[in-house]
Amino acid sequence: MLQNKRILLILTGGIAAYKGLDLIRRLHERGAAVTPVLTRAAEQFVTPLSVSALAGEKVYRDLFDLTDEAEMGHIQLSRSADLILVAPATADIMAKMAQGRADDLASTLLLATDTPVMIAPAMNVRMWDHPATQRNLEQLRGDGVAVIGPNDGDMACGEFGPGRMSEPLEIVAAVEAHFGPKPLTGKHILVTSGPTHEPIDPVRYIANRSSGAQGTALARALIALGANVTFVTGPADVAAPQGATVVPVQTAQEMQAAVNAALPADAAIFAAAVADWRVTSASDKKLKKSKDGLPILEFAENPDILAGVSQMTKGRPGLVVGFAAETNDVVDHATAKRARKGCDWIVANDVSPKTGIMGGTENAVVLITDKGADAWPRMSKADVAMRLARKIADALV
Ligand code: CTP
Repeated sequence: MLQNKRILLILTGGIAAYKGLDLIRRLHERGAAVTPVLTRAAEQFVTPLSVSALAGEKVYRDLFDLTDEAEMGHIQLSRSADLILVAPATADIMAKMAQGRADDLASTLLLATDTPVMIAPAMNVRMWDHPATQRNLEQLRGDGVAVIGPNDGDMACGEFGPGRMSEPLEIVAAVEAHFGPKPLTGKHILVTSGPTHEPIDPVRYIANRSSGAQGTALARALIALGANVTFVTGPADVAAPQGATVVPVQTAQEMQAAVNAALPADAAIFAAAVADWRVTSASDKKLKKSKDGLPILEFAENPDILAGVSQMTKGRPGLVVGFAAETNDVVDHATAKRARKGCDWIVANDVSPKTGIMGGTENAVVLITDKGADAWPRMSKADVAMRLARKIADALV
């Protein structure tokens, strides 16, 4: 329930703005007070009159409305709410937020605020998939903005795919979860993420294609549920999660040392793609081409960090979760991996190039526990993370 909560609802311009009217009603039903803000573009889709009638409050529209500045300055307006919700959030407002621009009331409020911000994106599928929007999305997540949806589906423009705004009730559920109990409060959870880099010489290294996206999303979800997260990360492509204690490492051996130093923990989640081997003959000078032939690299096996923690006899975290990156026979390999390493759960995924999972924004996982294999439908890495975080919370209570 949302009694005594004030939500500053920013509606930006898009056909989904009509769902914003229903959203106001749903938020009201649950006891929330809604202060509405309309961008100029949003006014093309819904009228200020209908918005204010449903909200039962004045609609804020213009940065330079001096009467409003006298009544309530934009700084105060941006901070008087318990939550700022941008729904629908267009590609344009996401770009402005990511860049920190402030050229109208909505973007100024978002820049001036110290209040938690949630966005429910809505746009054409190509705009959503565009690398610029995906970059902005990643930036916003890194800045601590919570993102709801978008959903797949038929769009007003006649195309099909991700970009449809989440339904009002889905948005309300996310808002309620934001204000709801935080089941992981007081729990320390260790998360490893990203690839490791194993040096060959000072300029070359062995790496893998892990972007760190799934581990980062998981850390964010755990933090959203109240956990105190230590995030041990190799050199990832995505920004580390806000609110975690971040320990950056390069190699598997450094990762193992950081993990051991971070224990004890209530749970440990190993989402990193750790290199299995390191080069023992790594040179401290750059290897040069030589007439004497090609360089010969010697390898040693890296420590298995997950197996080490799973098999600890003293101080083992209550729940140890591994990931399994497989390209074939996913469930069989992952089930064997769970037994071999001794972890409690394995989150298995198919990382063969055709799935687009490694380095992509979506994931299709199979959760393997002592009860067997549970295949989840393909969904965003953020949704996989939240579903897993909730399961972890259930297991730790
Ligand atoms: N892992 C680890 N330390 C390693 C290798 C892997 O902690 N040296 C962890 C990963 O973080 C992941 C799990 O073990 O949680 C499985 O990783 P994966 O790369 O799928 O398996 P491998 O152990 O490398 O096994 P294989 O080479 O047989 O696939």
